[in-house]
Amino acid sequence: MPDADSSPIVIDFVGGAVGFRLRSGEGRGQPLPRACGMAKGAMPTIVDATAGMGRDAFFLASLGAEVTLIERSPQVHAALDRAMIAARDHSEDLAAIIARMTLLLGDSRELLPTLSPEVVLVDPMHPERTKSALVKKQMRDLRDVVGADPDAHELMDAALAAAQNRVVLKWPLRAAPIVGLRKPSHQILGKTTRYDVFVTRI
Ligand SMILES: C[S@@+](CC[C@H](N)C(=O)[O-])C[C@H]1O[C@@H](n2cnc3c(N)ncnc32)[C@H](O)[C@@H]1O
Repeated sequence: MPDADSSPIVIDFVGGAVGFRLRSGEGRGQPLPRACGMAKGAMPTIVDATAGMGRDAFFLASLGAEVTLIERSPQVHAALDRAMIAARDHSEDLAAIIARMTLLLGDSRELLPTLSPEVVLVDPMHPERTKSALVKKQMRDLRDVVGADPDAHELMDAALAAAQNRVVLKWPLRAAPIVGLRKPSHQILGKTTRYDVFVTRI
């Protein structure tokens, strides 16, 4: 296994697709914040249990949410840490977003029971996520480092037990559901992705 510093993972919260999304002013009406219950001005505490490239967490934090990111791959965690420091040092606006993000190294199945967030976001590795060539390359690099997530069902169990309000499972629009998982309370459909929302407590 390569050490954290020789990781091919490069994360950029300043330019690239994440910076573009920020500058284009995508808002709370987007599928992800709606799935997290933010559409009507609510500001839940969120644990992103599968931090990955940090894109979803950064987007939610840019909308004002406090987001705890959990990543179990040391290489990906190190890349996230570097990207957060670079963004914080880049501008006051980005520093304000990064200040709402707390990054943890560990397995969410173990850490979730120690946290009591209102919302848990779960986005395990899965095939054919998007048609964007750029994202495809980034996801390929990520997959090379972290592999698949065959324990996504156990992660969902931990998320459902920890979430005070809801669990949001991000999943490819047309992929079969995770075997054995109960039906979601509702779904929010994006272009290539769906968000299965499991309300835990009202
Ligand atoms: C598909 S990526 C998430 C992408 C992320 N939503 C984004 O916006 O960039 C999945 C990530 O979750 C991590 N992961 C999967 N299961 C995990 C677990 N039980 N605990 C912590 N991290 C986990 C993987 O290592 C991988 O980096």
